[in-house]
Amino acid sequence: MLSDRQKQLLTLLVDGRFHSGRELADTLGVSRTSIWKHLQCFNEMGLEIVAVSGKGYRLLNRLSLLEVSAIEAKIPSALRGRLPAIHLFEQIDSTNTYLMNLAQQGALSGMVCLAEYQSAGRGRRGRNWVSPFGANIYLSILWRFNQGLGGISGLSLVMGIAVIRTLRRLGYPDIGLKWPNDIYWQQRKLGGILVEVTGESNGPVVAVIGLGLNVCVPPAAANAIDQAWVDLQHINNHLTCERNDVAAALLTEMLNILNEFENLPLAAFLDEWRAYDCLFERQVKVVLYGQEIVGVAKGINDNGLLLLQHNDGITHAYTSGEISFNLVD
Ligand code: BTN
Repeated sequence: MLSDRQKQLLTLLVDGRFHSGRELADTLGVSRTSIWKHLQCFNEMGLEIVAVSGKGYRLLNRLSLLEVSAIEAKIPSALRGRLPAIHLFEQIDSTNTYLMNLAQQGALSGMVCLAEYQSAGRGRRGRNWVSPFGANIYLSILWRFNQGLGGISGLSLVMGIAVIRTLRRLGYPDIGLKWPNDIYWQQRKLGGILVEVTGESNGPVVAVIGLGLNVCVPPAAANAIDQAWVDLQHINNHLTCERNDVAAALLTEMLNILNEFENLPLAAFLDEWRAYDCLFERQVKVVLYGQEIVGVAKGINDNGLLLLQHNDGITHAYTSGEISFNLVD
């Protein structure tokens, strides 16, 4: 959590203008050394601060913070009943971890967690999710299902569809999915989804669906990303990247599709997923049980499994637990 002092300091800096160390120290009633330490801490959270002698400090990029009321106001009233609360943190380890813990305590379906910064953001396959402060969307939603674990297979594909629907609605037409649910633009990763599930094979199940979407990645944080990436600002810098708008639009589509998923079979979503498949018929390199092989991606079967044609011409179906794969250049 940010301390009250740090929050105050941030409020002074959001205008993106220079503020002298003395001005900041006087306003907060602390020493200039203490200001410097807080600014160091902001830097470690991925907030880039420019320091110029004689002028002071300013944020490299203007900052517009997330606000629960601004997000809620943009969610259609028909859906608000499915959204009991949005918990927003300036700083958290992981929004998914937070909701997984809350689920154990009986949290209601539809609970949402958003954060400005994650100190231990988690990706699929145990990877780290780089989560600089105030730059991107880190969003998780908790959902309870009654149809058992088998009944929600395909949930992760469906959540990818929700993100593409959102981005198309916001004016980004060329974004696709890399199986099962990576959000891709021109072979670069724009976002990813981590679905974590606990429950019974035939009884109640709780899923936490976490989405990380790059909106405006600052240069220093970009160095920490270990794969080809892109952000919304790069794709089209004329469109709004206002994160409250993006978060509200994402939540709207996620709630919509979760309602649909409760009432429709997976088959009802698969053709839409196929329309967004950005690797169909492309040569891909697969890591399968520790071995690398090259094959051709053939889309998904009716259970949402990846179809991959090996060099011997035979097509095999894989679950996400078995393989990871990348496009061959
Ligand atoms: C991936 O590896 O592609 C999935 C990335 C998922 C990242 C999001 S950010 C919000 C939520 N909290 C986490 O710790 N992870 C997910």
